[in-house]
Amino acid sequence: MKGFQFTLFDVTMAYADGGTLDNEGLYQAVAARAGMQDEDLARKEPIGKAASLRSPIKRKIRWYQQTLKTLGLIEHVPGERGIWRLTDAGKKKLHPAKPTVALLAFSTDLGLAIWGDCNHVFSRLDEPIHLCLTSPPYPLRRSRAYGNPSEAEYVDFIIRAMEPIVKNLAPGGSVVLNVSNDIFEHKSPARSLYRERLVLALYDRLGLHKMDELIWHNPSKPPGPTWWASINRVQLNVAWEPVYWFTNDPARVRADNRRVLEPHTEQHLRFVQRGGVTWEPKVYSDGAYQHRPGAYSNPTAGRIPRNLIRQPHTCADLRQTREAVAKLGLPIHGAPMPLALAQFLVEFLTEPGELVVDNFFGWGTTAKAAENAGRRWMGAELMLELVRGAAERFR
Ligand SMILES: C[S@@+](CC[C@H](N)C(=O)[O-])C[C@H]1O[C@@H](n2cnc3c(N)ncnc32)[C@H](O)[C@@H]1O
Repeated sequence: MKGFQFTLFDVTMAYADGGTLDNEGLYQAVAARAGMQDEDLARKEPIGKAASLRSPIKRKIRWYQQTLKTLGLIEHVPGERGIWRLTDAGKKKLHPAKPTVALLAFSTDLGLAIWGDCNHVFSRLDEPIHLCLTSPPYPLRRSRAYGNPSEAEYVDFIIRAMEPIVKNLAPGGSVVLNVSNDIFEHKSPARSLYRERLVLALYDRLGLHKMDELIWHNPSKPPGPTWWASINRVQLNVAWEPVYWFTNDPARVRADNRRVLEPHTEQHLRFVQRGGVTWEPKVYSDGAYQHRPGAYSNPTAGRIPRNLIRQPHTCADLRQTREAVAKLGLPIHGAPMPLALAQFLVEFLTEPGELVVDNFFGWGTTAKAAENAGRRWMGAELMLELVRGAAERFR
């Protein structure tokens, strides 16, 4: 990652590893974590109006230290001058940002990852967004460590999170939401209708038109729902998740399937070479269309993808991220999106240089896809440790 040295997380972890630290100990611990040399830490440059010579790195560490004090994550050790340690809140595994705190977690030449609540971060943005691609927390009965809204709160939760994004959505821009298909009525094998309520609310309250409900078929999804499929035997194992695609202006939608064409099959190429349709005119689909002789005889650049995307959950990029994150002793994200799915949607729905955002950033899959495709990106993640883990993807 260009320009990346250390983050707020490294300063927090320096306290986690070192227990109680004075400032000199803190500088050394952060430098060791970030792989800095003594000379980097000692290098001074003129700072402030008086242009007095100071270390910019130590100054940045002190800023982060100040942030930790303000957030109540470190406390002064009683009776010891200038010595600080983590508070009980600071020792917890996942640290949510306070509702009004937004801090730069890391950046690349194309994007910014912010540690903060998405409502706070995006309500301050004033720039056209071309695509929001996100997978919000699911309405789980038993919530994950990062917290999930209940089913009753869910529609309002999503509408509130999407409002500042839709306000900045460029004409014909897209919002894509990957949500769960596996939410059931209480003690029942019947599926919750929360998805239907959500789609209607996005149209009624935010004016988002539904372009499609793509199917993400995940062949490596573990079998489930266990209770209803494996034990009671009244349901089938789930193989897919819905990916809703909306736009604010269908007539001007910025999608272009020519950006995501797939290679033709050998069989199709041979068919084109033989001159395409050779049989007598035939009418299909109750007259909706008919094939004339010679149809499909012109070579085309590729096959238009279908709206069923088959992608396993994991890939080499995710495996590497997991390894790097585990080495840092950080929590592993339980629900990242497949990179190839995000890559496909970013390329289909935006052009290079446009702005792609993810308000529920997680491990930054959308951002990684945008970075790979030369799109600008921005994301907000509530949990410090998760956004720090995401940084490993951009090294
Ligand atoms: C399903 S995960 C997203 C995973 C992500 N798409 C990826 O591929 O890594 C949802 C994420 O939203 C984060 N989150 C929950 N509430 C949030 C909020 N109010 N603002 C920002 N992030 C939030 C959670 O901490 C979690 O990492």
